Amino acid sequence: MQSTDNTIGILDSGVGGLSVLLEVRKKLPHVPVHYIGDSEWCPYGNKPAELIQSRSYAVAEELIEMGARTIVVACNSATIHAVEALRARYPIPFVGMEPAVKPASQCTRSGIIGVLATEASIAGEKFHALLKTHIHPKGLKVITQPCPDFVTLVEDGMLSGPKVEAAVREYAHPMVEAGADTLVLGCTHYPFLRESIQSVVGPDIQLIDTGEAVARRTASLVEDYEGLATISVHTTGNLACLERLFPILCPSLPAHLHQITIA
Ligand code: DGL
Repeated sequence: MQSTDNTIGILDSGVGGLSVLLEVRKKLPHVPVHYIGDSEWCPYGNKPAELIQSRSYAVAEELIEMGARTIVVACNSATIHAVEALRARYPIPFVGMEPAVKPASQCTRSGIIGVLATEASIAGEKFHALLKTHIHPKGLKVITQPCPDFVTLVEDGMLSGPKVEAAVREYAHPMVEAGADTLVLGCTHYPFLRESIQSVVGPDIQLIDTGEAVARRTASLVEDYEGLATISVHTTGNLACLERLFPILCPSLPAHLHQITIA
């Protein structure tokens, strides 16, 4: 595919960032997109910060080679540990995403917020800075919960059913029982489980993610002129897996699927 100056690159540890690609597509239907899911290294969420950073560099470089002129870091873990370093290293805009703590702090009525995110995100300094700015001064309470099984389930294309419900009960019920009325879906894999999560926790609990806000920010940086609007989705993992998963996660979205190796 030829590159144009509105070509967008999107990266994630795996297929989770496709939830952000779907939002970006709604706002920018005509831009060419290269997506890389670093599935060979998935999950990022249990990896050390240095490794998340070095993989983010490698994947971002590949996207730039492919022609990306704006990169969306569609991974909370990679944003928390690598987005500043990426911005310092490459001369193009990077749109990051972090758990929706700020919007949650504005919506909660009980004053208790549950944050579902990866272990790496919860441990990151950037996440603690968010709490310091938006939670502590208002006297709100945050309960954090890493959800590694959610990533595995989405990577397996399992978005509903007894296994998903059991995982939701394990991760989300204790937060709701502790009084949380707002749950932050702080990892880009989790929005694919939104309906299952909502059906287990009930309609009174608000679920918040930042996919739409990130797409809005991206649309403010990139012009949506008519041109090559191809979507290419690349995996560093197994192509047959991606071919099975993609129609489950992005039904009826036309895209070219590829396997790539990134050292
Ligand atoms: N989707 C990613 C995030 O938003 C990472 C999930 C993982 O690889 O652990 O944090």
